[in-house]
Amino acid sequence: MTSLILGSAEQGMYLRSMKKIAVLTTGGDAPGINASIRAVVLHAAKHKIHVLGVMEGFDGLIRGQFRELTGKEVSSMLQSGGTLLRSSRSASFRTPAGRKKALKMLHSHGVEGLIVIGGNGSLFGASVFSEESAFPVLGIPKTIDNDVAGTDFAIGFDTALNNAVRAIDKIRESAASHNRVFFVEVMGRDAGHIALHAGIASGSEVILIPETFSNLDMLEKNVRTHLGRQASPMIVIVAEGDDAGHAVDIVKRLKKRIRGFNPGVSVLGYIQRGGSPTVFDRYLGSAMGVKAVDLLRKGMQGVFVTYKQGKLGTAPLNKLRKERHPINRELIQLARNLGQIV
Ligand code: F6P
Repeated sequence: MTSLILGSAEQGMYLRSMKKIAVLTTGGDAPGINASIRAVVLHAAKHKIHVLGVMEGFDGLIRGQFRELTGKEVSSMLQSGGTLLRSSRSASFRTPAGRKKALKMLHSHGVEGLIVIGGNGSLFGASVFSEESAFPVLGIPKTIDNDVAGTDFAIGFDTALNNAVRAIDKIRESAASHNRVFFVEVMGRDAGHIALHAGIASGSEVILIPETFSNLDMLEKNVRTHLGRQASPMIVIVAEGDDAGHAVDIVKRLKKRIRGFNPGVSVLGYIQRGGSPTVFDRYLGSAMGVKAVDLLRKGMQGVFVTYKQGKLGTAPLNKLRKERHPINRELIQLARNLGQIV
């Protein structure tokens, strides 16, 4: 499915002899992280590199919370969601003093390279750390929001999508049984990747995403048409970052416009982030973990692993200062052709 062949930037590079690396997970959990940690540990062991797991993200790094990881610790972790290293969103690592402490901890534990499994903010934090300390840092992108620039997929997105679609299919049964309109809010922070993909895959009647203007007049017209039909269920997918607001706010406004309107509202929330990773996330997590170790051994740093058009590659971490993964315009067009985006 993918290629682990080195890109031109990596060819001909010398191999660093490393004895010890560390891995940490930061930001929101995402299914497939454990597959990645497992791959880092197993592949590093093949090259006689010890792996220290840092507990609780950058906060744990600053506090020096390390734990030795061997095949035993990662055995049977491929299929589990969450992160065995636990995670945090660290305020201290945003300060120079916090990063200085982190560097001291890495040096005092004899760590020669750090793999950070994180989303946009965390990977950018890792880039600042790598630039100011010159410490070898390698990133692996994970986030259910799939908003990391430079990679088609981040670990966790595919599982979150499948979770969302399964939930929406269930809600449709109620919508159909009661001839009722349902608003379903999905995660994604300020991006509409989950909403767009899940909306198309669940055949939802309307998709509201921040990347397109959500026209309330058109939505009202659409709802009225559906209410006028017999036995016609309607699902409206709302991205949590939509320009028209959260699902509850949109419903409040529509209730003022449509007399007697009583839709169901479901905010899917954290169930999207949980559960056993899909085959794709197991594969992506594993492939990115192996690649990160190889890149560190080749002396690369300040980059993160990417997956584009079926191939693994790299992009500079500091790319994430400003850039976000743009929404797929072809999918927007598909949703328009299917009448889901008005
Ligand atoms: O970034 C992943 C994500 O689940 C977003 O979709 C959501 O907006 C946010 O995290 C929730 O943040 P927290 O875990 O801090 O509640």
